[in-house]
Amino acid sequence: MAAKQKVLLLGAHGETGGDILNGLLEDGGFSQEISCLVQPSSAEKPAVEALQARGLPIVVADISGDVEELAKTLQGFDTVISAIHALHILAQIPLVDAAAKAGVKRFVPCDFAVTMPPGVSKLRDEKEVVHQRIWQAHLPYTFIDVGYWHQLSWFRVPSGRLDYALTFDTPEVFGDGNTRTLLSDKRDMGRFVARIIKDPRTLNHSVIAWSDEITQKEIIHLIESKTGETVSVSTVSPQQLEVAIAAAEETLKTDPENLRAWVQRSGAHYNRAKWIRADGTLENAKYLGYLDARELYPDFKPVTFEKYIDELVAGEAKRPYNETVFQALMGTKGDGEERLVLRTG
Ligand SMILES: NC(=O)c1ccc[n+]([C@@H]2O[C@H](COP(=O)([O-])OP(=O)(O)OC[C@H]3O[C@@H](n4cnc5c(N)ncnc54)[C@H](OP(=O)(O)O)[C@@H]3O)[C@@H](O)[C@H]2O)c1
Repeated sequence: MAAKQKVLLLGAHGETGGDILNGLLEDGGFSQEISCLVQPSSAEKPAVEALQARGLPIVVADISGDVEELAKTLQGFDTVISAIHALHILAQIPLVDAAAKAGVKRFVPCDFAVTMPPGVSKLRDEKEVVHQRIWQAHLPYTFIDVGYWHQLSWFRVPSGRLDYALTFDTPEVFGDGNTRTLLSDKRDMGRFVARIIKDPRTLNHSVIAWSDEITQKEIIHLIESKTGETVSVSTVSPQQLEVAIAAAEETLKTDPENLRAWVQRSGAHYNRAKWIRADGTLENAKYLGYLDARELYPDFKPVTFEKYIDELVAGEAKRPYNETVFQALMGTKGDGEERLVLRTG
């Protein structure tokens, strides 16, 4: 068995971090060694108490605080993994500096999304700023992307029988619907991460983890064949997508804290990258220099998109983001006036 690593995980009570935690715990090599980094304002949250109840050590630290102090907190950890919310990507900068000072042996910043070059998405560009800070600090790293989650990549059917697991209602096909992109089941992220962070081959590399490479038309065909229902979608041309991006940009210019516009812009940037530009393919990931986790771990059996759709149709899927602001954004709660409050925690 590989030597045990001391791992510090930021975001263990979030969606991505929770899946990473489960994957690490499943992997015997890490079972006694994971600690959870929690910001002071969240230390009393029931979700954090639930981590404690699972026997996980909680490290309370303010990542926006003094870097020297933060470095002392990080001392002794081999690996630091960040699964911070997409609104807080740049908040990782002091954590990078502190990890470098503390001699952390591998830093995994919050990527966990679709591969794309800089300049395509504001969110990805913030991640690029974090990558550059890592390189400037000579901090050992692994960047891990996973494509888009299965759980956010399907279409509703008219009967509403799948709605119990719906996070975003996006009944749109972009372009001709024939562009391929990589998907992963969110539950596999941690299983991949557990392998990747103990693998010397992935040190100072980017890794793409995935289960399927699929088009929107193939997704629709799969759902229709499993449900016997006809999916209803509208088609969005590349030009219409640019108009939507420009409208969200315009709102953010005058109202930079408008969460709805931020989500619309982020979603549109992702849809352009995935379904128009073909940035999310395996071929493009390799072109961008990623190692392929499926080649590194040929014995790894990811949850396929078809398996996830079978679970969804059987009523066994779980909706991500229960009780979060994202449900409010879908119009079932809230008034659409949510602000970027998540940015300040
Ligand atoms: N590939 C995909 O399809 C996909 C989909 C969604 C997300 N993602 C990726 O996953 C990442 C994480 O998103 P998520 O949806 O998992 O977020 P999430 O569920 O909101 O979880 C974010 C976690 O970060 C913690 N956090 C936030 N600010 C912090 C701070 N200053 N110090 C310490 N902890 C802090 C939160 O704790 P608090 O309770 O303290 O706020 C929470 O535990 C995103 O950035 C994105 O890259 C990918």
